[in-house]
Amino acid sequence: MDVITRETLFNRVRAWILEAGAIIRNQINDPLEINTKSNPKDLVTEMDRKVEFFFASKIKQYYPEHLLLSEEGYGDTFENVSGTVWIIDPIDGTMNFVHQKQNFAISIGIYEHGIGEIGFIYDVMNNNLYSALRGNGAFKNTKRLAPLNKNKTIHESIICLNHYWLTKNRIVDETVMQQLIKDVRGTRTYGSAALEFAYVAEGVVDAYISMGLEPWDIAAGRIIIEEVDGVTTNISGDKVNMLERTSILTCNPSIQKDLIHTYLLKAKK
Ligand code: IPD
Ligand code: CA
Ligand code: CA
Repeated sequence: MDVITRETLFNRVRAWILEAGAIIRNQINDPLEINTKSNPKDLVTEMDRKVEFFFASKIKQYYPEHLLLSEEGYGDTFENVSGTVWIIDPIDGTMNFVHQKQNFAISIGIYEHGIGEIGFIYDVMNNNLYSALRGNGAFKNTKRLAPLNKNKTIHESIICLNHYWLTKNRIVDETVMQQLIKDVRGTRTYGSAALEFAYVAEGVVDAYISMGLEPWDIAAGRIIIEEVDGVTTNISGDKVNMLERTSILTCNPSIQKDLIHTYLLKAKK
């Protein structure tokens, strides 16, 4: 993609995501139709579908040759990431959207031949737009995000983690995870993977760990994190495959080795 095409695309996506956010804000107090998907805690509303349809229609109209990988059924099916692929979560944090009417985000990552070029995470109710164009830095609204402080230790870190992983479970040894919780300065759980990526990029937390995320949960966050020198791998430290469900560790690089070797590899079942 040449420079002009990339910048035009970036500006269009920026305008569209702000437009979609305004639609959600205008209808935030309307009655919701709530359904469940894979289990009773996996919620979806007509707003999730409406926002995804909004982007799917724009992509078809302006970029018919591009592919869409998305959560709610308007995407394409494909086996590899060649060409330009949009990876969209129309509402990340649907449970927060339903219960709190805040703390959810629209997440859009655009990849070219597997390389993340453009990332947007829009905290709709706070009107905060996190963005990155590969090689041009990451921004929160118009403010450029600083590279992450390279002198952090585990003991000075705040990490984001779902409390579920501290209970007995099939994926990780909860006792190792409990030790991690004791060793860090603090923990947070926000209920939106995309926002947790954004907060790591902003430096207000130092890591986000999840044992199972879908491509649309992480596509934009990875791109934004990279622009502030942050790192994203699975919990074993391997590169993530953008077409598969995966565990995730995204963090300040200065605590990555310690998190993986002292805790996550030992915790893995
Ligand atoms: C979910 C949120 C949540 C994370 C789940 C995701 P959704 O996305 O990001 O924080 O723990 O694994 O599925 O369903 O609200 O788009
Ligand atoms: Ca999601
Ligand atoms: Ca979603």
